[in-house]
Amino acid sequence: MISFFVNDKPHSIDAAPDTPLLWVLRDNLGLTGTKYSCGVALCGACTVHLNGAPVRSCMTPISAAAGQKITTIEGAKSKAVKALQDAWVKLDVPQCGYCQSGQIMSAAALLARNPHPTDADIDAALDGNLCRCATYQRIRAAVHQAARSMKG
Ligand code: FES
Ligand code: FES
Repeated sequence: MISFFVNDKPHSIDAAPDTPLLWVLRDNLGLTGTKYSCGVALCGACTVHLNGAPVRSCMTPISAAAGQKITTIEGAKSKAVKALQDAWVKLDVPQCGYCQSGQIMSAAALLARNPHPTDADIDAALDGNLCRCATYQRIRAAVHQAARSMKG
């Protein structure tokens, strides 16, 4: 039995230690906002926070989450996430939407450690979050917009 917290709620799962965290989130807990795409840490669609840091849940074994705090898009309520979600809507960022929860989780981790990111900071932080619809320009603009709104 492996115990951990997801979105501030305690959970205990009877799973093999090498079960990907992504499977547990989606299949056991029904948190389908975190997406499965490449499965090998190359696309960022499955990004969640482990104790506030972005991780690829497809390649994070559930054993690494034991006793730790996981945050998914469903439970991400920080000021940065709220600002990002408002900017995402205002700038109409998503196309198909598939990559976007991972994009927002990576962007939220960036703003938490760097409230005034440059274009280069944004590009570096979101480099591993791929978007097959190529919304990169609007994502970057929305991160700037969120950063500006958090100042006020
Ligand atoms: S599904 Fe995890 S990085 Fe692509
Ligand atoms: S919005 Fe379609 S993959 Fe990014």
